[in-house]
Amino acid sequence: MEKEKVVLAYSGGLDTSVCIKWLMEEKGLDVIAVTGDVGQERQDLEFVKNKALQVGAIEALAIDMREEYVNDFLTKALAANCMYENKYPMVSALSRPVISKNLVEIAHKYGAKYIAHGCTGKGNDQVRFEVAIQSLDPEIKVLAPVREWNLHTRNDEMEYAKNHGIPVPTTKASPYSIDDNLWGRAIECGELEDPWSEPLEDIYTMTTSSYEAPAEGEYVVISFDAGVPCALDGEKMSFHDIILKMNEIAGRNGFGRVDMIENRLVGVKSRECYEVPGALSIIQAHKALEDLCLERELLHFKPIVEQKWAELVYDGLWFSPLKEALDGFCSTTQQLVTGDVRLRFLKGSCVTVGRRSKYSLYDYGLATYDSADTFNRDSAEGFIDLFGLSTRVWAKHRQDEGKPGVV
Ligand code: ARG
Repeated sequence: MEKEKVVLAYSGGLDTSVCIKWLMEEKGLDVIAVTGDVGQERQDLEFVKNKALQVGAIEALAIDMREEYVNDFLTKALAANCMYENKYPMVSALSRPVISKNLVEIAHKYGAKYIAHGCTGKGNDQVRFEVAIQSLDPEIKVLAPVREWNLHTRNDEMEYAKNHGIPVPTTKASPYSIDDNLWGRAIECGELEDPWSEPLEDIYTMTTSSYEAPAEGEYVVISFDAGVPCALDGEKMSFHDIILKMNEIAGRNGFGRVDMIENRLVGVKSRECYEVPGALSIIQAHKALEDLCLERELLHFKPIVEQKWAELVYDGLWFSPLKEALDGFCSTTQQLVTGDVRLRFLKGSCVTVGRRSKYSLYDYGLATYDSADTFNRDSAEGFIDLFGLSTRVWAKHRQDEGKPGVV
């Protein structure tokens, strides 16, 4: 009898390699291993595919998801100035939905009833995969071997691997758990679990230490067209290439490190370190252009939407009705976010030093204090009179009652 199939999100590491064998033996399934290229570092996809086949997968696919990731996911993330808890530009939370979407498509193509991932039972990523997959196809059953099996330590896994002919890593395991893609890198575990201990320099690969960064710094101009980055220093480029280039420029100037305590959805506070040189500088520039082009009420309201958007996406609700509706709001706001922003990088800092736009709402005549002034001061008196009226009525009442003031 033909076996049922499972599509496994495969990274090529020990956990997901053990998953292949475990799904075959414990669940009696045929495994289709899928590795997504979302722009992570150091990945020889052919090698990873061959490893999956060697361990026993019936099929191994390496899918380039980068364009889809940038165009359908990061574009929306930038429109929402994605930032969880005002600090984390959502590296892992953004890649999970694009990977999930591809896994579901492959499951449909191969007639697989199951999808499996290698996430542990303590993090956010399990929630993101499972909620996204269920939203895209509620019929698919998700399996989480790492949550189910009895291999509690890395040694248990190594032992299992050795006994099942799975190649085991020969180099000493890194103490860190790393997840990366072209939007940045997340680093956790090891001595970082002590929130008081300063991260060692060796956790960073995308950013130079600000001590080592060049003393002369660097200027760069990012141009946007309807909210999407479209050129760097005047040279037309795709958003994808701009992210890569900004990772380099900001990274070599020591900008883009985040060290924070983060509140996971599953109730745990965790210490997280991130390298997000491109993401952080692009978001900063994007906000600077919005400051120039968006009207005051809209500009003040948008962060409320952004915060909710970030929470939803962090919590795994990319494919959900509220998130979709908020995308609609954000996308409307981006129509006139077109123009240039000049950033200055210097030894770990990134400062916005210039902005211009054909849709700029900055009016020199209204803003200036020199002779070109067009602001009508005569209307200020009447404005203040009415603006302060209700407070004045209240203050007068308090005074009459013998209870002056608020303080
Ligand atoms: N804490 C971050 C998040 O939940 C990063 C998770 C990184 N995942 C990992 N396997 N290291 O989005």
